[in-house]
Amino acid sequence: MMEKEPKNKIQKRYDRIAPIYDLFANPMEAMALKKWRLEVMQELGGKVLEVGVGTGKNIEYYPTEIDITAIDFSEMMLDRARNRAEKLGREVEFINMDVEDMDFLDNTFDTVFTTCVFCSVPNPIKGLREIGRVCKPDGKIVMIEHVRSEQKFLGPIMDLLNPLTVNIYGANINRRTVENIHEAGYTDFEVSNLSGDILKKIIIYNKK
Ligand SMILES: C[S@@+](CC[C@H](N)C(=O)[O-])C[C@H]1O[C@@H](n2cnc3c(N)ncnc32)[C@H](O)[C@@H]1O
Repeated sequence: MMEKEPKNKIQKRYDRIAPIYDLFANPMEAMALKKWRLEVMQELGGKVLEVGVGTGKNIEYYPTEIDITAIDFSEMMLDRARNRAEKLGREVEFINMDVEDMDFLDNTFDTVFTTCVFCSVPNPIKGLREIGRVCKPDGKIVMIEHVRSEQKFLGPIMDLLNPLTVNIYGANINRRTVENIHEAGYTDFEVSNLSGDILKKIIIYNKK
């Protein structure tokens, strides 16, 4: 798949919006995101990797018994996540790392999870394959991701607005993440709709 947006451009966009990210995300958070974040937490166990931790909006919901590492490629977003973890008294290992090229050894994590990340990863297929590499065989990859609607009118509108959202905050609203998961080579996964056909919960059972 072609990398449409240079990586450092997306990184810089997240660095730029980091100070106002929570402000924009809060209405969505209040509406339903909190409920879905909690749903993801139920799936986590063992040694866990959060990819694209952002400002750390999941941290307050992390189960207490997990050993958690969190990565992001925006240092400004990571700074906020570090502060949040400190305020909440949670121990998290934060690392500035690109999901497309991670330093972790193969089969390091029992669970890998993402919330609203694969809309902005510059090369999503590469990132999805890397997640499978660092996740143990029979480990679990849990994702909450928004994708392009397949509805007749809504889909094309999302295509039309996409250049705008990418330019403003680095997120593609017309990503076909389920298709990307297929393309990355996964065969065993469950997809459920959380809001219309746009917001999905995806569980990938990692087979190697
Ligand atoms: C829309 S934010 C979501 C943040 C957080 N997961 C949440 O639920 O609020 C997407 C995050 O993914 C990060 N990201 C995008 N591409 C990445 C990559 N290739 N490697 C690491 N992080 C990436 C961005 O820097 C940003 O912090």
